[in-house]
Amino acid sequence: MSMREFIFFFCFCVSCNLLAVENQPNLGRDASKGVIKQWNLDIFSDGKGLPSGQGTAHKGKKVYERYCLSCHGVDGSGDSADELAGAMHSLTDNPPDKTIGTYWPYATTIFDFTRRSMPLDAPGILNNNQLYAVTAYLLYLNGIIKRDKVIDSSSLPKVKMPNRKGFINIYQQEKEND
Ligand code: HEC
Repeated sequence: MSMREFIFFFCFCVSCNLLAVENQPNLGRDASKGVIKQWNLDIFSDGKGLPSGQGTAHKGKKVYERYCLSCHGVDGSGDSADELAGAMHSLTDNPPDKTIGTYWPYATTIFDFTRRSMPLDAPGILNNNQLYAVTAYLLYLNGIIKRDKVIDSSSLPKVKMPNRKGFINIYQQEKEND
């Protein structure tokens, strides 16, 4: 390519780019720190990300009855939405009975899931104490903790879910096979 051709090509590229920029719809804005904080909600299986606060199943029953019962039924038995407790048969039956109690490997997921998406018609409405309490209530209904056990950021990750060992960590396996 001659120098002249190169300059022509270069100018062509620049003008295309400028045109592209001009044609942008100019919608949206940078996410503010507050918005990022609001959406950055992940809680990890080891409890990283859990906020302060606490609750017991005793208090959680009231939260459940006010905000969850209408869809998930009495004592989590299921209604228009999934049953959350009271599995009648096991995971190895056909079909398996998958509830949070029989299936989910980590208790922290109950808090995380509820905080980001429940109640379905008004997610985000519960404060941290209500979230800990309703999580405790669901664990209690599944026979995993006692009614007066205090659930908070240190006790929740220590709760051993019955199906904790029912998942295969393929990344760990690949490492071991290397
Ligand atoms: C308006 C109806 C409605 C209300 C109220 C509601 N849920 Fe749900 N919930 C649903 C639906 C529908 C699903 C299934 C969503 C899906 O599969 O993505 C669900 C799923 C769930 C799950 C996951 C169950 C599973 O086995 O995968 C949990 C846990 C849960 N809800 C907890 C709660 C809690 C706690 C409350 C009260 C704070 C609540 N929900 C209130 C409709 C509701």
